[in-house]
Amino acid sequence: MDYGLRGKIAIVTGGANGIGAAICETLAAEGASVVVADVNAELGERKAAEIRSNGGQAIAQHVDVIEEASVQALFETTIAKWGRLDILINNAGFTRDMRITKMSVGDWDAVVDVILKGAFLCTRAAVLIMAEYGWGRVVNISSRAHLGNRGQANYSAAKAGVIGFTKAMALENGRNGITVNAVAPGIIGTDAVLTLPHFSKIKEAAELNTPIPRIGEPEDVAHAVAFLASEHASYITGDVLHVTGGRY
Ligand code: NAI
Repeated sequence: MDYGLRGKIAIVTGGANGIGAAICETLAAEGASVVVADVNAELGERKAAEIRSNGGQAIAQHVDVIEEASVQALFETTIAKWGRLDILINNAGFTRDMRITKMSVGDWDAVVDVILKGAFLCTRAAVLIMAEYGWGRVVNISSRAHLGNRGQANYSAAKAGVIGFTKAMALENGRNGITVNAVAPGIIGTDAVLTLPHFSKIKEAAELNTPIPRIGEPEDVAHAVAFLASEHASYITGDVLHVTGGRY
């Protein structure tokens, strides 16, 4: 599909692996120039090189989204290389699952910070640049877990927070031509999920309980993101698009 992304400049945090990598590939295949922004610099370089070898435009940039100076450097590098920024995908995140009685302050902070502080720091930097051009797209990766999951107090709280953050950002930035939306994936077959010790049980349950009876692929999420990042979605903001196969 032609999402009209030719010539757009995009940053994807956590772009080296899983859903973020699929988003980088999809945006690049649609003609966008992509910054693969990841804390895992080696994996990021590999992903950017792979995109270039497939004819796309990509660079890798190391970033730790919870570090203000690191985020600043990411945006400076992007502007130095391509002179503009049109699209930000806040995707970096991870889980640290356990019942609340076992959860340390460190377990709470690690998950909430990478998801919420990361989105805050990157969005703050992005909308300043996008406002100058009067056009921008921010897509935040939430999760179906925003509805609450056992063993995911930190993650569910953070992913619900992403939705509140998305709505506040939509209100603040709409008049500058910037839309801000969230995508809430269900279970997606990335390393983070495929390596879980109880993966076969998760897969079985998904096949049983999901109207579309399978786990999702990273590309399922990437195409929803590409749509929201496109001109075709210019009248959609502050919204949440669930990519869950119909499971709530
Ligand atoms: P993944 O583990 O395959 O990829 C996450 C990427 O984020 C990795 O490349 C990692 O190096 C990077 N990252 C981690 N901390 C970072 C930091 N501080 N700064 C920059 N980069 C960092 O995970 P996956 O499954 O692709 O998840 C991507 C996003 O999608 C996450 O926000 C996750 O919560 C969300 N999600 C995933 C679902 C799934 O079933 N896989 C379901 C719903 C949401």
